[in-house]
Amino acid sequence: MGYKRPKDIKTFHIRAEQILTSMKVVLAYSGGLDTSVAIKWLQEKYQAEVVTLTLDLGQEEDLKAAEEKSLMLGSVKHYGLDVREAFVRGYVFPSIRANGLYEGKYPLSTALGRPLIASKLVEVAEKEGAQAVAHGCTGKGNDQVRLDVTVRALNPALKIIAPVREWGLTRDQEMVYAREKGVPVSPKKSIYSTDQNLWGRSIESGVLEDPTVEPPADAFEWVVRPEDAPDRPTYLKLAFEDGLPVSLDGVELDPMTLIVKLNSIAGTNGVGIIDHIEDRLVGIKSREVYECPAATVILEAHRELEKLVLTRHELNFKRTVDSAWSELVYTGLWVDPLRNDLEAFVQSTQNRVTGTVTVKLYKGGLRVVGRTSPYSIYDTKLATYSSESTYNQKLAEGFIEIWGLQSRVSAMRNKLQKVTAS
Ligand code: ARG
Repeated sequence: MGYKRPKDIKTFHIRAEQILTSMKVVLAYSGGLDTSVAIKWLQEKYQAEVVTLTLDLGQEEDLKAAEEKSLMLGSVKHYGLDVREAFVRGYVFPSIRANGLYEGKYPLSTALGRPLIASKLVEVAEKEGAQAVAHGCTGKGNDQVRLDVTVRALNPALKIIAPVREWGLTRDQEMVYAREKGVPVSPKKSIYSTDQNLWGRSIESGVLEDPTVEPPADAFEWVVRPEDAPDRPTYLKLAFEDGLPVSLDGVELDPMTLIVKLNSIAGTNGVGIIDHIEDRLVGIKSREVYECPAATVILEAHRELEKLVLTRHELNFKRTVDSAWSELVYTGLWVDPLRNDLEAFVQSTQNRVTGTVTVKLYKGGLRVVGRTSPYSIYDTKLATYSSESTYNQKLAEGFIEIWGLQSRVSAMRNKLQKVTAS
C-alpha cells in the first residue's frame, strides 16, 4: 500500500508555501480599472500584501476616491503624495530649457512623469520594507521601460511586477475578472486610455487608433475645438528668467500657478492639440493625440527668445543637444549620466534667456509677435534698411567671394567636364 499524505499535513504545506512566498508590494495606483484589478491579482497570484501609491502630478483626478477604492479592495496601506512642485522643478524645468519635444511634436508630458513615479515607488518600498514594486503598464508602450529602467537603477534588489504585461487578459476577460473579484467597473468609463499631469494630457486607443480619422470632440477635455474658440485674439506677455517662465502679463507667478493658468488660457483659445504618428521605443508606430496648451505656449516662446539672445552657432548646436535630450527622456533613460552632460551645456546657454515674449493666441493658432531681452544680440542699426544703418554693404562683396569659393570652383569643374565630354 502506498503512502498517503494525511490531510492536515497537506494543509500545513500550503500554509508554509504561502508564508514563504508572501511579500509586500508597492503598487503605483491610479484608481482606474487596470491598477484596481492589479490589487486583486497581486493578492491572488503572489499572496502579496499590497501597499498602494497615488501621486498628485497635477492630473486633477480625485485622489481621495483613489485612496478609498484602494483600501476597499484590500490594500494594507495607501500613500497619496503631492509631488507637483517636485515635478515642475525637477522635470518640467529642465525640459523647458532643453525645448523638450519628441520627434519635434510631443512635449514629453507623460514621459517626464515616469521617472518621478519610479523614484517614489522605490522610496516607499524602502520605507515599507517591501520586496517588490508594481505598475499597470502594458508590454507595448514606453512607460514600462521608463519605470523599470529607473527602478532598477535606483534599487536593483527590488522585484518589478507588471501585472498587465504578465496576465495576458483581453479587456473583456479583465472585466469578467473584475466583476468576480468585486472591483467596481464603471459602465460609462471613457473609451480612451489617458494619462495626464500638469504638462499635458495623453489620449490613446479607441477610434484614435485609426490614423485616417479625425479625433472626435469627446477625446478632448482641456482644449476647446478651435472653431468654438473666441472670435477675438488673446495676447499674452510671458517673461522668462534664466530660461524659465516667471511671470504672465506682468504678474509674477509661482511656476505651478503659471502653468495651470496657461493651460486654461491657451486651452480656451483652442491652442495645444497635437495629433501625430509617433515612434515608440518598442518599435510600434502609434497615432498619438495630446492636449498640451501650456507646454505648447511656453516652448514656442522659449525657443523664440533663445533666437534673440544666442548666436547662430549656439542655436545650431543646441538643436542637436535638445533633440538628444528629448530622445533620452522619451526612451526612458532619465537616469543616464548623458542627461546631466547635455544639461550642463544647456544650462550654460540659459542665463541669457531672460526677457519677455508676446504671444498671440487665436482660434487654435499660436504666434510669437514680439520679443525683448537685455541680452538681445539683435541690432537694429545692423538690420535696418534706413539711413541709420551702420552695416558696411561694400564688405559683402569680398565676403561672398570667399564664402562661395569651393562651391564655385566645383561648379566650374563640372561645366568644363561636360564640355570636354561632348
Ligand atoms: N505616447 C506617449 C508616451 O509614450 C503617451 C503615453 C500615454 N500613456 C498612457 N498610459 N496612456 O509618452
